[in-house]
Amino acid sequence: MKKINIAIDGLSATGKGETTKYLAKQLNYKLLDSGAMYRGVTWDLKRKNIIPEDVTEIDLASIHIEFGENGHLYVNGKDVEHNIRTEVISKLTPQYAKEKIIRYYINKELKELVKERGYIAEGRDIANNIMPDAEIKLFLVGDSEIRAKRRQEQLKKKGILENVETIRIDLESRDHADMNRDVAPLVKHREAIEIDTTQISMDEQNEFILSIIQKYLGK
Ligand code: DC
Repeated sequence: MKKINIAIDGLSATGKGETTKYLAKQLNYKLLDSGAMYRGVTWDLKRKNIIPEDVTEIDLASIHIEFGENGHLYVNGKDVEHNIRTEVISKLTPQYAKEKIIRYYINKELKELVKERGYIAEGRDIANNIMPDAEIKLFLVGDSEIRAKRRQEQLKKKGILENVETIRIDLESRDHADMNRDVAPLVKHREAIEIDTTQISMDEQNEFILSIIQKYLGK
């Protein structure tokens, strides 16, 4: 069966990651978590005390990012999956992701990967910049209170207790940073199908999106 490419963009904590993993497994497609790449670069630059405004091409050339067979992100050979999922890195990443030089570097890596078809890529500028020819483009949104409650549950499972209001303010500030940066802001592609995740469960979201894809594939 001919494979297609699928671009999933949207607000923070709309379940893009979980849905992408689910779809990749169901369809036997490769997944690409572009946010993990921005997080990995942020983690490495912060560790070296390089602030976003000072990043140079030489700094970036020394960062080798790749995904392992286990789906984890590796930076210069080190599995950083846990290091990049902290709240500190979540807060810092939008500040690095707004820098043109960093976006250019990650875009080059991403475009190299998605030359073939059979990819489900998720992020903020996938449809507009990385895979404008993706056959299916989705844009996930949702009420920030509900998203904050879901994120609180996820954190609780990791043993982290966080106030829901703090999470909501943080999510809104990340969305604001992503939507208002000068370079490649988060904007819905004109061909993208917008999906409001507020009233649906994670399972319903996964099934609904899978049904859109299967319909397109004629299954
Ligand atoms: O999806 P995520 O939360 O892992 O993304 C982390 C940050 O990276 C988020 O603040 C937005 C940024 N990002 C981006 O600017 N462009 C992308 N294609 C993916 C993520």
